[in-house]
Amino acid sequence: MTHQTRIEARIAEWSQKLPQGNLYAPMAYLMGLPAKRVRPMLVLMACELFGGRAEDALDEALGIELFHNFTLMHDDIMDAAPLRRGHATVHEKWDVNTAILSGDAMLVKAYQLMGKHPQVAAIFSKHALAVCEGQQLDMEYERREQVSVSEYRAMIRLKTAMLLAGSLQIGACLAGAGAVDQERIAAFGEHLGLAFQLRDDLLDAFGDPAATGKQQGGDLRAGKKTFLLIRGLELGEAHGRRELQDELAKPGEGRDVPRMLKVLEELGVRTEAERTVQQEEEWAMNALGEVSAPADRKKPLRQLVTLLMGRTR
Ligand code: IPE
Ligand code: IPE
Ligand code: MG
Ligand code: MG
Ligand code: MG
Repeated sequence: MTHQTRIEARIAEWSQKLPQGNLYAPMAYLMGLPAKRVRPMLVLMACELFGGRAEDALDEALGIELFHNFTLMHDDIMDAAPLRRGHATVHEKWDVNTAILSGDAMLVKAYQLMGKHPQVAAIFSKHALAVCEGQQLDMEYERREQVSVSEYRAMIRLKTAMLLAGSLQIGACLAGAGAVDQERIAAFGEHLGLAFQLRDDLLDAFGDPAATGKQQGGDLRAGKKTFLLIRGLELGEAHGRRELQDELAKPGEGRDVPRMLKVLEELGVRTEAERTVQQEEEWAMNALGEVSAPADRKKPLRQLVTLLMGRTR
C-alpha cells in the first residue's frame, strides 16, 4: 500500500465514526475533499527514514492532517475564500459560526491524536502555535502599506513552513531519532515549506482554478502581501507603473485581477518568483542531503520534493 492510500483509508475510517450533526459534518466534508496530504506523508516518510514503521505513525499522521484542515477551515473565513479543493468552503456551505466551532472541535480532535507521546505533543504544540503567529502576521500585513520580502519570508516560515518541518520532526521522533537528526530533518522541512508557500502564492495568481480548486486571484483581491505583490509594488515604483496601486485603492471585489497579473508579468515579477521557488527547492534538496540516513531511504522524500516542484494544485 502506498503512503497516500494508507492515509486516505485512515481518514475514511475516522470520518465514518464521527457522530451525526452539524459540529462534525463540516469536518467529514472538508477532510473528504480531494487533497494532496503532504503533511501526513511527511510524518510517515520521516518515520521510515529513521527506521520506524509507518503503521506506528498513522495516528499522528491523521492528527497533523486534522490540524491542517482546522487551519484551512478558519483560514477560509479570514481570507473570505468561496472555494476550497474545488468545492464551497465550510463557512459558505454552512455559515461562519459553524465553521468557527467545527474548526475548534477539529483542533481538539487533533490534540487527542497527538497526545499519545509527550515528546510528540510538545513538538506539535510548538509548531501549531507558530502557524497561529504566522496567520496573525498574514492578516496584519494585508492592512500595512510597506512589507519587505524578508518580513514576508518570516511570515510564511511561521504560517506554512513550520508545520511541514514539525510533521517531519514528529515522524523522526516516533522512529526514535536523536535531537541532531530531528533538527536536520526539520531544516529540510523549513526550506520545503518556504518553497511550498511561494508556489502556493504563484498558483493563486497564475494557476488554473480548475486545478487549484481555489478562486483565481483571491490573494490580489484581499491585498495579501505575497512575494508577487511586494515585489510588484517595489518594481512598479521604480519603473513608474501605478497599476497595482490604482487597483489596490479600489475595494477588493472591484479589482481588475487580469490587469494586475499583466503588470506583474511585465515587471518580471512572475519570473523572479519562479526563480525564487526553484532556489528554495534546491536548498531543500541540499538540506535533505545533510540528513544522516541511507540514500535509498531518502528516495521517497526526494520524489515528493520533485512532485511538489511541478505541482499545479
Ligand atoms: C494549503 O495547503 C495551505 C497552504 C499552507 C499553502 P495544501 O496546498 O497542502 O492544501 P491541500 O491540503 O492539498 O488541499
Ligand atoms: C494558508 O495560506 C496557510 C495556513 C496556515 C492555512 P493561504 O491562505 O495562502 O492558503 P490557501 O491558499 O488559502 O490554501
Ligand atoms: Mg487562504
Ligand atoms: Mg490565508
Ligand atoms: Mg494561498
